[in-house]
Amino acid sequence: MTSKPTLFSGIQPSGDLMIGNYIGSIKNWVKMQDDYNCLFSLVNLHAITVEQSPEALKKRSLDFVAWYLAAGIDPDKSTVFIQSHVPEHSELAWLLNCHTYMGELNRMTQFKDKSAKHEQNINVGLFDYPALMAADILLYQTEKVPVGADQKQHLELTRDLAIRLNNKFERELFKVPEPFIPPTSAGGRIMSLQDPTAKMSKSDENKDNFIALADDRKQILKKLKKAVTDSGSEIYYDLENKPGVANLLTLYSVISDQPIDAVVKHFEGKMYGHLKIELAELIADYLEPIQNRFTEIRSNETELHAILTKGADHARQQAQPTLRAFQEALGFVLR
Ligand code: TRP
Repeated sequence: MTSKPTLFSGIQPSGDLMIGNYIGSIKNWVKMQDDYNCLFSLVNLHAITVEQSPEALKKRSLDFVAWYLAAGIDPDKSTVFIQSHVPEHSELAWLLNCHTYMGELNRMTQFKDKSAKHEQNINVGLFDYPALMAADILLYQTEKVPVGADQKQHLELTRDLAIRLNNKFERELFKVPEPFIPPTSAGGRIMSLQDPTAKMSKSDENKDNFIALADDRKQILKKLKKAVTDSGSEIYYDLENKPGVANLLTLYSVISDQPIDAVVKHFEGKMYGHLKIELAELIADYLEPIQNRFTEIRSNETELHAILTKGADHARQQAQPTLRAFQEALGFVLR
């Protein structure tokens, strides 16, 4: 076994993987693979808390895994797996359910937001989502969890559960996980192209709001041309008054790996149109090799399944001691 600290992250197979996921998550994961015992899970059990088309879910799940690999997640270094392949997740979630209070889950803002959005399908799973997420994390004695602001509350609950159970059973059943902020969180927040005050989201119904990893050069250019800019015509970075331009500059800065100042200087005296066209070229050039690798990896489903089987086996191996210790503490007769 490894002595590196464990890092766990999950991504739901919903929507289209897009440039914001790449910059905010996947790109950082790739860098962390050497320093952490990384587990990256495609969380399909979470995804079904809202209505899914079974066919689309299946296709998207394999697509997402292929994108991870194409972006540089190395299955020899990291454990890449599908959540439902590791039944310990559901099992621990049940055990945690019996130690999670209705009042705690009632406070979760994501539940409130999603119930408002899916009025016809406020199912128990949607309510219980945070307990399953806690199970994902606690199952592996995870120390670091890279999460965005919208998941902080769930991570807090996970920490509360770990502390509560360790105290109750007077032993260290679970490590208390911490949020992980990447060392260079440069431009972590990529905003929607049409509404630069909202975060870019892969589940946005309006696909003009994001650049999908699969978008080709023409689509990228079209979306950027349509992107909301601000009044005025000068290119400079002002998040408050020019959020649209600031967002494009941030994208340029992150993709070209240059500080914002240098990017602003580069566009001195030029117009918004120049920024959009150059940025489109930059992103298209950047995505091209990733897209080529994706096509290659995705075309070999046998190999993809083999990677996922290996990932699931490895994850189970790591999960079982923690689950067993908890069952033992609860007074279950172990088999
Ligand atoms: N809830 C997370 C999201 O929507 C996904 C997720 C599920 C996750 N389990 C996790 C993230 C465990 C980090 C750790 O973004």
